[in-house]
Amino acid sequence: MHLTKLEERTLEGEHGWANQIAMKILVKLGDLFGATKLIPVQSAHLSGVSYKHMGDGAIEFLNELADKGGRAQIQATLNPSSFDPEYLVKRYTKERFGKQERILASYGKMMIQPTLTCTPYYIQKPQAGQHLAWAESSAVVYANSVLKAWTNREGSPSALAAAIIGKTPNYGLHQAENRKPNALVKIEARMKTETDYGILGIHLGKLLKDKAPNLVGLQGSDDELKQLGAAMASSGMTAIFHTMAHRGKEKLESFSVEAKDMKEAAASLNTSDQNPDLVFVGCPHCSEREIKAIANLLRGRKVRKDLEMWVCTSRHVKERRQNYVDTIERAGAHVLCDTCVLVSWIKDLGFNTVMTNSAKTAFYAPTLNDAEARLAPLKKCIQTASNP
Ligand code: F3S
Repeated sequence: MHLTKLEERTLEGEHGWANQIAMKILVKLGDLFGATKLIPVQSAHLSGVSYKHMGDGAIEFLNELADKGGRAQIQATLNPSSFDPEYLVKRYTKERFGKQERILASYGKMMIQPTLTCTPYYIQKPQAGQHLAWAESSAVVYANSVLKAWTNREGSPSALAAAIIGKTPNYGLHQAENRKPNALVKIEARMKTETDYGILGIHLGKLLKDKAPNLVGLQGSDDELKQLGAAMASSGMTAIFHTMAHRGKEKLESFSVEAKDMKEAAASLNTSDQNPDLVFVGCPHCSEREIKAIANLLRGRKVRKDLEMWVCTSRHVKERRQNYVDTIERAGAHVLCDTCVLVSWIKDLGFNTVMTNSAKTAFYAPTLNDAEARLAPLKKCIQTASNP
C-alpha cells in the first residue's frame, strides 16, 4: 500500500504511540485486503462500547490509547453502552457501572462523541458518495443501501483507528466495482409489516452470506429497510443491498423468496410461546416516525403490571419527540436511551422471554441474552404489552 511521507512518519512513531498503533491497524488491514492507499473519511462510528461485550482487557487498551494521545481527527460517534444513566443504571452493580464509565471516559478523552446509538445517521445524515468508516453492522448496511454513502463493515479497532487517523484503506465498498449487485433476488412473498422485512433479512443473510444483492423492485419505507438490513447483517455478512428494477443484460446468480421461506425463517425466530416478561422495540434505535407510531398505538392504554415494555432510541430522537415520549411513558413503558436489550444483562434483571418486532433482536436473544424470543409486528407487541 502506498503511504504519503506524513503517513510513513506516523507509522514510524514520529507522531506518538497512539497514532502509530492506529496507523499500524489501518496498514495491516489495507495490506490484507489489497488496498493501494488510504483515503479520507467523513466520519467514523465505533462499536466496542458496551462493557458486557468488551470485557476487562479492552478497558486497559482504550485507557492507554487515550492517555498516550489518541484523539479523533474527524467526527466520531459511539454505539450503545450496557445501560442508560436513568433507569437501568440503578439495577446493575456499582462495579459494572464503574467499568462502563471507564470505557466512556477513555472515548471521551479521545474526543469521540458519546452518542451511544446505533443510528448515528439520525443525528447527522451522511451524503451519498461520502466515504465513512462505520462499525455497527446495521448502520453500515443502512448507510450503503439507503443513504448511498460508502463504508466497509469495520470492526471496533479499525473504526477507532480510522477516527484517530481520519482515513481508511481504499478496498471493498470504497471501490465502485465492489458495490454493484452480484446476485438477483425476486421477492415472491407478500411484505405486510416491518417484521416481514426483518424476517426476509434473516433468510437472505443466511442464503447470500456476503453477496451484494439486488432485491429487484422491493419497495419499503426507510424504517422497513432498516429492519431488513439489520437482520441481513446479523445472519450473514451483507454490507449493501439494492432495490432497483433489473435492466442489466449481465447474467447474475438468481434467487427467489417465497412464502414458505418466510414461514421457515419466522419459525426459527420464535423460540417460545410463553408469555413475554419483556416487550422491546427499538432495534435498531427508533426513528422519530417510529416513536410517533408507538405513542399513537399506546395512547389511552396501560402497560400490564406483570411485564415491562422498553422502547430504545437515541437521546437526539428522544429530545426531538418529547411529546410522544411523554405519551409512551404515561402508558407505563420505559423510553431508554444509550442502550438496548442485546448489550445489557436482561437475564440478571429476571427477564426470560423477550417479545420484539426486531428480527435482529429475536435472532440474537437466545445466545446473547440467554432468553427466549417471540417476534411480532409492533401492533401485536403493543397489544400484548398493554391493556386499554
Ligand atoms: Fe442497535 Fe442494539 Fe439493535 S445496538 S441494532 S438496538 S442490537
